[in-house]
Amino acid sequence: SDQSAFDTDVWTLTRFVIETGRQAKGATGELTQLINAILTAIKAISSAVRKAGLAHLQGMAGSVNVTGDDVKKLDVLSNLLVINMLQASYGTCCMVSEENKEIIVTPKDKRGKYVVCFDPLDGSSNIDCLASIGTIFAIYKRVTDGEPTEEDALQPGNNMVCAGYALYGSATLVALSTGAGLNFFMLDPAIGEFILTERNVKIKPKGKIYSVNEGYAKYFHPSINEYLKHKKYPEDGSAPYGARYVGSMVSDIHRTITYGGIFMYPANEKSPKGKLRLLYECNPIAFLIEQAGGLSTTGTQRILDVQPESIHQRVPFVAGSHDDVNEYLSFVQKYQ
Ligand code: AHG
Ligand code: MN
Ligand code: MN
Ligand code: MN
Repeated sequence: SDQSAFDTDVWTLTRFVIETGRQAKGATGELTQLINAILTAIKAISSAVRKAGLAHLQGMAGSVNVTGDDVKKLDVLSNLLVINMLQASYGTCCMVSEENKEIIVTPKDKRGKYVVCFDPLDGSSNIDCLASIGTIFAIYKRVTDGEPTEEDALQPGNNMVCAGYALYGSATLVALSTGAGLNFFMLDPAIGEFILTERNVKIKPKGKIYSVNEGYAKYFHPSINEYLKHKKYPEDGSAPYGARYVGSMVSDIHRTITYGGIFMYPANEKSPKGKLRLLYECNPIAFLIEQAGGLSTTGTQRILDVQPESIHQRVPFVAGSHDDVNEYLSFVQKYQ
């Protein structure tokens, strides 16, 4: 594109999806509509997040959700935005949200062929201290006819058609893949469009950062603490790793993709399956990490191979640079 300040041939996310959509077999434009609906919700959430303190959107909504989290006002607002924009897109038959106990069945007259599993606001414990937060989504084709059921949502991550996350950080970024590589887009608030900034992003084969909440070390399986010890006191003369942990999955994952390294939310005695939810956190992130050439595992199974049993189930989650994840797996193998 030309070098003038104003790009007159700008690659918006919409243009990018239309281009890739046309290459996808049997593209009906329905997926493009669906992604656009999600982007509209993300733009609205971005605006609300940046005004949260002013619009009294911080603080508790005063309820606890099905996964036991305290629900914040922004959780509720973000959830409603995503549900309403998606249903209005005529692209979904049902959805799964972190904030809804049951699957959300789309009204009959608005149904389409896709299923969306999403975390409307990820990292909500960080809202009030202004640390970065995000939105995560995974898109599948429905597998049933007639009335949508949980079966449409309980598909292994391998069936995913598209996944993405939004990061409400110093800028608002969307990471997206439809299965042909990972792409980054930045929101240009001046024109309200997401502009392509990086195509076919690849994660380093090995990084120098580990990311885990070490506050749970007392409850970790020994393989985790042995791995972490090896990162801090390497016996092979290599330099110790740096430590970074935001506590918002999207922030920690985006840093891991950008700089390399490993992110871990392992099982621990208090949460034997870890904390992160398979359908709307682990699967979409695993899909994107693999598109970038990284690995994602429960410690014993590739995340995208897991056959979900319930829509809010948790799985232990380790992901990042493939050399780092493989090194971690070598510590797990010692205990097999
Ligand atoms: P959510 O805000 O959508 O419930 O997700 C919070 C998750 C995830 O964002 C983060 O990686 C993890 O919680 C942090 O958990 P700890 O505070 O236990 O480390
Ligand atoms: Mn939550
Ligand atoms: Mn989350
Ligand atoms: Mn959430």
